[in-house]
Amino acid sequence: MGETVGYRVTGDVALLTIGNPPVNALAHAVRAGLATGLERAGDDPEVRAIVICAKGRTFPAGADITEFGKPSQAPNLPTVCAMIDMCEKPVVAALHGTPRGGGVELALACHARVASAATTIGLPEVKLGLLPGAGGTQRVPRLIGAKAALDLILSGDPMTAKQALAAGLIDAVSDKEPVKDAVDLALRMADGEVPRKDLQDSPYLADPQSWLAAVAERRASLSGSPLKAPKRIVDCIEVGALMPLEAGMKFERAAFEDLVKSDQSAALRHVFFAERTAIKQPQLAGATPRTIRQIGIVGAGLMGAGITVACLDAGYNVTLVERDIDTLEAGVERIIDIYDRAVDKGRMKADARDQRIARLSGHTDPGAMADADLIVEAVVEDARTKEGVFRTLGRIAKPGAILATNTSYLDIRPLAAASGRPEDVIGLHFFSPAHVMPLLEIIPTDDSAKDVQATAFALARQLRKIGVRSGMTDGFIGNRVNSAYRQAAEFMLEDGASVVEIDTAMRDFGFPMGPFEVSDLAGLDIAWARRQRLAATRNPSARYVAIPDRLCELGRLGRKVGRGWYTYPRGARSGQVDPEVTAIIAEERVFQGIEPQKFSREDIQQQCLAAMVNEGAKLLDEGVARCPSDIDVVMIHGFAYPRWRGGPMQTADAEGLFKIKRDLERLAREEPLFWTPSPRFDELVKNGLGFASLNPK
Ligand code: 3HC
Repeated sequence: MGETVGYRVTGDVALLTIGNPPVNALAHAVRAGLATGLERAGDDPEVRAIVICAKGRTFPAGADITEFGKPSQAPNLPTVCAMIDMCEKPVVAALHGTPRGGGVELALACHARVASAATTIGLPEVKLGLLPGAGGTQRVPRLIGAKAALDLILSGDPMTAKQALAAGLIDAVSDKEPVKDAVDLALRMADGEVPRKDLQDSPYLADPQSWLAAVAERRASLSGSPLKAPKRIVDCIEVGALMPLEAGMKFERAAFEDLVKSDQSAALRHVFFAERTAIKQPQLAGATPRTIRQIGIVGAGLMGAGITVACLDAGYNVTLVERDIDTLEAGVERIIDIYDRAVDKGRMKADARDQRIARLSGHTDPGAMADADLIVEAVVEDARTKEGVFRTLGRIAKPGAILATNTSYLDIRPLAAASGRPEDVIGLHFFSPAHVMPLLEIIPTDDSAKDVQATAFALARQLRKIGVRSGMTDGFIGNRVNSAYRQAAEFMLEDGASVVEIDTAMRDFGFPMGPFEVSDLAGLDIAWARRQRLAATRNPSARYVAIPDRLCELGRLGRKVGRGWYTYPRGARSGQVDPEVTAIIAEERVFQGIEPQKFSREDIQQQCLAAMVNEGAKLLDEGVARCPSDIDVVMIHGFAYPRWRGGPMQTADAEGLFKIKRDLERLAREEPLFWTPSPRFDELVKNGLGFASLNPK
C-alpha cells in the first residue's frame, strides 16, 4: 500500500490512517489505499475491528475537487463506502478538524463515528453545484430525519461535533483523543456490547408522511431558483423515503454525475479555486506582515462607519476621527445603530455589542491616532481633500504605521507623495456596506513596501474578507468593469430598451438587482462626480449618454431622495416607473436622432456580458488585473455577479470566446471606441483557449 493510507494493527484493531495533505481529500490514491487496507484488515485473523482516521489537520475534507471533470479512476468513493458498509468487522471513524462532503460520507458508511470536540462537520457539495454523491442524501435522513437532513445538505453549512451528536449524526464526542476512543468503541462493537445501527430500518422511515411533507415544503421554496443542485438534492431525499437504501444510492449517484457535468458546477468549482488563488501572492513570499492592533479611521460617513464596524468585529481597537464634533457624533451613532439592529435581529448578543463599542474611541484631533498601527482614510472622494489628509497623517502617524486610502477611483500615488512616506501607503478599497461586503481590493503603488502589501492581505483575512490585488487605474478592477456594464446598459436605454426591461433582464441573468436599481440604491451622484472629473480627458468622439446627467440635474439622485431612475413613494423599497424619466429618455433619443429599436432579454444580457468581459480583457492587457479569476472574484463579491455563473470571465469561457468576440465586433461597427474587442480575444481564440488558461495553475 502506498504512503497515502497507513496500515497498523494495535491490539486487535487495524488503524487505517489517511495522509494526503493539506486536507486529506479523497483522491484516487486515498480511495485505492482505503480499499486495500479494508481488504487486508478483513482477511487478517488478528484484526477484530477497524478504525479509519487521518493525519494532519483534518479527517478528509471531501472528494478531491480537482479530479472532477477528469476521467474517473476506480475505485470510486461509493465503492469504498460500500466495502465499509458490508465489512463483517466493525469499522469506526475517528473524526477531527473539518470533515466535509465525501469525507463525511465515508464516516457515515462506517458503523459508528467518534469526533473530537472541536470538529465541525458539513456537506457543502451544494456550494459546488453538486450533491453528496456517496450516500449522503440517503444515510443522513435515515440518521437525523428528513427535515434536519434537508437543512444540513441544502445549506451546506457545517455543524459542531456537539450539534452532530445531539442530532444523531455521530455517536460520541471525544474530549481527549478521538482515535483512542474510536478504538475502544470498535472493540466494544466487536464484542457485541454495542450494536451496529441498521440504516435499512431507520425510525424515521416509520413516518413517511412527515418525511415527504418536509420534502414538499423545501421543493416549494426552491421553485423560482435558477440553481440545479438544490432541486436534485430534494429529489434524492424524497427517494430516500420511497426506495430501499441501495436503490436510493444509485438514484443519488446518477444525479451527482449529471451535476458534475453541469456548467453551474463547473462555475462554482472555478469560484472555489479562484477565491483561494486571489489571496496567494507568491511575490510577497518572505515578507512578514506588520503587527496591527490599533486602527485609526479618518471619516465617519457611511464608508468610515462600515469600516469601523468591520474592524471592531475583527477584534481591533479603533480610533475614529472626524473634523467636527457633530459629524463625529453622527458617525458614532451610525455605528451604534448598526450594532443595535444586529442585537434586535438576534444576530448578536448585547454583551458582544458592548465589548465592541468599548474598543471604539472618537476624536476630532488627528493626533489621537498617533499610536495607530494602521490608519484608513475614508473622507470624501476629492483628491485635494485626501492629499490634505495624507499630509497630516505623514506628520502625526508613528514610524512604521501603514497609511491606507479607501478611495474608489483616485490615483493613490499623489496621496503617497503627500504623506512623505510612500513606502507605507497602500489602497484598501472597501465595498459598501463595508461591514457586510466580503471584498477588499488591495492596491499597492510601485513604492508600497512588501511587508505593507503582506499586511493588507493578512488584514483582509482577519476581517473575513477576500483580498484581491488590483493595479492602479481609475476605478480599479471592480469599478472599471462595473462602469462598462453600466455604460452598455445606458447605450441600450438610449437605443430603445426601457429601464424596466434592462433591470428585469439582468435580474433574470442572476443579479439580485438590475443596473438602474443598483444605481438608485448607491446614489446617482457618485458616478456623476466621476463623469465630471473625467470630462476634461474624455475622448470627444466617444459616445456619451447624457440621460443620467439630466436626472442628476433634476435632483433625481436615487432612493435616498425618493427619486432616481425610478420613483419611490414614501417608504417603498421597490421603485415605480416615472413618466418624467421616460420623457427625458425619449427627448434624448430625439436629440441624438436615434430611432428606438427592440431589445430582447437575451440581447440585453449578451451586450452587458460582452461589455464586462471586454473590460476585463483590457484590465489584463494593462496589467491591472493579475488573472481572469481575480476579476471574477471581484465581480462576485463586490457587485453580486451570480456566483453560479462563475464571474464574467468564466461565463465568457462557458459561452465561447469566439461568440463573444463576434458580438463585440458587430457592436464595434457602431461604436468602435467602446466595443472594439481586446486583442486578447484573437490570441485566445486562435489557440483554442479560454480565459481560464491565463489563471495561475
Ligand atoms: N479537494 C481538493 N482540494 C481541496 C479540497 C478538496 N475537497 N478542500 C480544500 N482543498 C485545498 C484548497 O484548495 C487549498 O489549497 P491551496 O492551499 O493550494 O490553496 C487547501 O486545500 C486548504 O484549503 P483552505 O485554504 O480552504 O483551508 P481552510 O482551513 O480555510 O478550510 C475547509 C478547510 C473548510 C475544508 C475548506 O477547504 C473547504 O471547505 N473545502 C471544500 C470542502 C468541500 O467542498 N468538500 C466537498 C467536495 S465534493 C464531494 O465531496 C463530493 C462527494 O459527495 C462525492
